[in-house]
Amino acid sequence: MSVDQLPAEEAAPSRRYDGVLRYYELAKRAEWKVGDLQWGEIPPIPEARGSAEKLARRRDVWRSVITQQLQADAFAVEMAAQLFQLAPHHEAKLYYSTMVQDESRHVEAWLKLVEQAGGTAEQDPHLDALARMFLDLDTLEEKVFLMQVFFERLIIPRFRLIARSSRGTVLEDLCNRLTIDDGIHHGAGMAYERVLLEDADRKTKQQLITVANQMMPIFVQHALWRPQVRARIAAAMESRDAQRLREDLDDGIRLASLLGLDVSELRLPV
Ligand SMILES: [Fe+2]
Ligand SMILES: [Fe+2]
Repeated sequence: MSVDQLPAEEAAPSRRYDGVLRYYELAKRAEWKVGDLQWGEIPPIPEARGSAEKLARRRDVWRSVITQQLQADAFAVEMAAQLFQLAPHHEAKLYYSTMVQDESRHVEAWLKLVEQAGGTAEQDPHLDALARMFLDLDTLEEKVFLMQVFFERLIIPRFRLIARSSRGTVLEDLCNRLTIDDGIHHGAGMAYERVLLEDADRKTKQQLITVANQMMPIFVQHALWRPQVRARIAAAMESRDAQRLREDLDDGIRLASLLGLDVSELRLPV
């Protein structure tokens, strides 16, 4: 088919993906390097005072916090690569080329940090289950929805919490950078999903609600899971954690309705 036979919309330069393109430009401006972090100049993680036993216990807690973030970003690398492969639109591919780099950079930084903190700790089995589910989703719409609209948004408050309790460390600096990066990943996903859903039929939209309902109970297990070394702190924070989780899930539902989805069939597991 020659260009003049194409329907008008396809022949004219489309502005539909300008929103996604803006996030590409934003991501380029926000780009940083692992070497920008103050390695060797400030402590990698907070330094505890007290007995050798207390020091070791605190260190184990930080190793565990970092291991979970490393695990999340290792999964994000795979997910970003899938999104890059699947997205058929040029603007989205450009954007995802930056997201793949971001997630790889995050993994690199966590790997360096976990080494300085004394090595990796126990992995969260529920995060593995969540990753498997996301990676196995069938369509681009489902992947953008669960990964960028939900997951990227829901982990941002956790970076803020970690940063708040690790002032003056490389860990704090890294968490602040990740808050910005994941804010861009989320915003780009919202912009892209909005365009993808413009022409979507009822069945496609219904499918998003179905996968969200499958995802939420696993997300809850992941969010409330604590390894052995953090069991004591976890018990003390249980009700606060549950409340925070409820707020996060409510936020996810608000985002789904912003995308024009019928959220009345979303079942909150908590
Ligand atoms: Fe990341
Ligand atoms: Fe991300």
